[in-house]
Order: sequence, then structure tokens, then C-alpha cells
Amino acid sequence: MSTSKRAAVVLAAGDGKRLKSKLPKVLHRVAGRPLVGHVLAALAPLDLDQTVVVISRTVDELRTSDGSLGLSAEATYAIQDPPRGTGDAVRVALEYLGDTTTVLVVPGDAPLVTTETFRSLFELHESSGAAVTLLTSEIDDPTGYGRVVRSEGSTVERIVEHGDATEDELRVREINAAVYVFDREALARMLPRLDDSNAQGEFYVTDVIGLMREEGLGVVAHKTDAVETSGVNDRAQLSDVGRALRERACARWMSEGVTVIDPATTYIDPTVVIEPDATILPLTFLEGSTVIRAGAEVGPQARVIDSEIGPGASVTFSVVRGSTIGRSASVGPYASLRPGTVLAEDAHLGTFVETKKATLGRRSKAPHLSYLGDAEIGDDVNIGAGTITCNWDGTEKHRTVIEDDAYISSDTMLVAPVRVGKGAATGAGSVVRDDVPDGALAVGVPARVIPGKGNRKKKKLPPG
Ligand code: UD1
Ligand code: CA
Repeated sequence: MSTSKRAAVVLAAGDGKRLKSKLPKVLHRVAGRPLVGHVLAALAPLDLDQTVVVISRTVDELRTSDGSLGLSAEATYAIQDPPRGTGDAVRVALEYLGDTTTVLVVPGDAPLVTTETFRSLFELHESSGAAVTLLTSEIDDPTGYGRVVRSEGSTVERIVEHGDATEDELRVREINAAVYVFDREALARMLPRLDDSNAQGEFYVTDVIGLMREEGLGVVAHKTDAVETSGVNDRAQLSDVGRALRERACARWMSEGVTVIDPATTYIDPTVVIEPDATILPLTFLEGSTVIRAGAEVGPQARVIDSEIGPGASVTFSVVRGSTIGRSASVGPYASLRPGTVLAEDAHLGTFVETKKATLGRRSKAPHLSYLGDAEIGDDVNIGAGTITCNWDGTEKHRTVIEDDAYISSDTMLVAPVRVGKGAATGAGSVVRDDVPDGALAVGVPARVIPGKGNRKKKKLPPG
């Protein structure tokens, strides 16, 4: 057991010039979160005593105007203005650190470092008593990264940035991941000694390593695999880390019993939950708070956002947002379900159907070409091709209610507010402005109501 108090400092104030973007680098989204959100998510299970995120003015403004940046509410935010390098950023962070003794420093643009690696780094550091423990990896193309310079005896002597390296140093393939655990006191002593006489004219935290060695302090390096240490400096790397995060998410769900036909074209946000024996077909996007129940089949080509897909249900070539799909219900191909759509067991929405705030009861279906908005539809209702709920009168939205066993013929316009009663029916092309009583048939334009001639297909007709 260690008695150290652990803190993390996340460096997220750089503007990321190489991305050529108005949006600060750490807020660029990959795999469902901004870059820095992935870092914070990997830190969360460590239960650290404190987390300080160093951000720029721009990030701070965006963060306060929009709470959905994936930035954790528990962290302390320290503003670095102007950003003068990673060493300067750590200096700013230290002003906010409480009485912690051990400080993990991690860049906000390294979303692939895992919780396990952070944990091992802390443990290695605490057991070795070194002044710093840093994460490195061997990579084929180290261009752009800081190189780890070791002595003959293979002790880490210092880090040299790409722009400041000699030709010999550029040949070194061991790179600095920019993830370090520092003894807080030693770190604080070195920071005032940094200078900016280097290629970028910045204060580099990497120079702390060399300074510590000069004082004879212990420096320990922990090597991990190359993928994990990938940083993001340009858009190509942004897409590379996105792919790696995607592969990881698919691998995780496959290990939990989910069939993923093609991980290369399957995009699963870290916030999604999938039950065993669900099948995810290619070209599918599962986003936000989506839950996929056992035996459901999603895809090919589906985008499901903040929705629940019930046991054994299927969604194919469709977009589903903020909706709940019941057991064994089916959606698509080519349906667009907008927020508030609820399908009960065995319901079906088919080709070119759009819904919004619409509930369909058990076994009800709208197989083709419909718009159903602000609609409450009972059980066993058939919605014919081309049916539209005219829910918007130019000023307000109105509701359409269609009761159990009703039969809506093709091309019916339901001018809301309107109610179609139990077992009632509408004629093809009818424009229904008035309520249709139970068991009645509404025909014509505008529709006339004829009592007692409702859905003849249903055995028990209520009195019309
Ligand atoms: C840094 C390391 C390099 C390492 C690489 C790994 C330094 C000097 N270099 O280089 O050795 O191989 O990461 O990916 O540290 N930031 C601030 N304030 C600043 C500048 C940067 O908060 O003033 C933040 C950035 O937002 C970013 C992180 O620090 O998240 C790293 O900055 P970046 O410019 O990407 O450093 P690299 O050149 O990649
Ligand atoms: Ca970087």
C-alpha cells in the first residue's frame, strides 16, 4: 500500500495548429467523445485525489457555453493564457494542486492510453522511488515525436524534441508518449529552471527529465505498445486514433458475446450498451445512450442514437434517434425515426416512413411512405401507404389518435387534432378532418363519415 496522494494533470490548452481548425484540438471528436474526454474517461476508474485539466480561454468558453464536451464535472480547470508550452502548462496546473505527492501528467491528445497503463505507471513509480516514471514505445515512424535519449548503460538521460534533435537522435525509434508520473516536489523544483531556447520557443516539460538526471535523480521508463502512445497532431492521426478506438470497442463487445460482422465499418460509442447475442451488421453507427437488447439485429447501414432496440428486434438501412423499439419489432429499410417514437412488440415501420413523437401499439404497421408525427396509434392498426398525419397547422402541433384495429387506407390525410376510433376505417385518398367514431368508415375529400362501415376485416365491429 502506498501512502502517496495521487493527482493527474491533463494538458489540453494547446491550440493544435497542425489540425488547421477553428476548434481547439482536444475538442475534436473521435469515437463519440472529444479527444480529451477519452483521456478523462480512462482516468476516472483510478479514483485519483485530484484531476486538474489545463485549458485555453477558448476551451473554457466552449466548455461553459455547452456542457456536452465530455469534460468531467469533478475536475479542476486551470486556464493557461497564453499557451507557452507543455512545461508552462504543468507550472499553471501545480498552482491548483492540493497536497498531492505524486502527479501523473498526460496530454489531452492521447486518447488511447488505457486505465491499466496509467495504473501500472503509478505503481511502478511508487515502488521504484524514482523522481519520474515515463511512458515510451518503439515506433516505425517516430517523425514528430520527442525521442528518448539513453546512455550507454541504457539509462534514460533526456528527451529531445524532433525539431531540436541531431541526425543521430532522429534515428532513435523509442518515443516519449508525454505521459509521466512525477514526484511532485522534484517536479516543482525543476519547473522554474526550464527555458524556451529551443526550436519552438516554448517551455518543454520534457526538459525536466534531463534536469532530473543532471541532479542524479532516478528516471524510470515503462515501454508499452506503439498504438497506445499515438498522439493526435493532424487530421490523419485523428482518423487513425478513431479507427483504433473503434477496433477496441468492437473487440470488447465481441468478447462479451455480441456478433460484429465487420469491425472496420462498425462505429460503437463508448457510452453504448449491447447485450449478448445481438448482431451488428456492417456500416452501422451506435451512438450516445443507445442500448441493444439480446438477439436484436442492427444494420446493415443503420444509425441508432440514444435509443433502445428491444430483444429480437431489427433495424436495417435506417436512422433511429431518441426512440424505443419493442421486442421483435422491425424497422426499415429506409425509415427515419425521430425522437419520441415508441414501437410496441411486433410493430413495424417500413420503407420511407418518417415518425416523430409517435407510438405504435402491438402488431401495428406502417409499411410504406408515411409521415406519423404527434400520433398515438393503438394495437393491430394498419397504416396504408402514403398516409400522413397533418400535425402542423402553421402555428401549432396537434395530435392524431388512432385506436385499436383501425384500418387507414392508402393516401389518407389525417388533419390533426383528429381521432379515428376502434375498428374504424378510412377510404383511399380521404382527407379526414373530423373524428371518426368506432367502427365507422370515413371517405372522400373532405371525408364524409358513414357509420357502421368500418374495418370489415376485423371480426368484432363495435357499434358504429
Ligand atoms: C509532446 C512532447 C513530445 C511527445 C509527444 C507525444 C513536449 C515538448 N513534447 O509533443 O516529446 O513525443 O507530445 O505525443 O511536451 N499543451 C498545453 N499547453 C501548451 C502546449 C501544449 O496544454 O502550451 C497541450 C496540448 O493541448 C496537447 C499536449 O499539451 O494536448 C501536447 O502538446 P503538443 O503540442 O501536441 O505536443 P507534441 O508536439 O505532440
Ligand atoms: Ca501531440
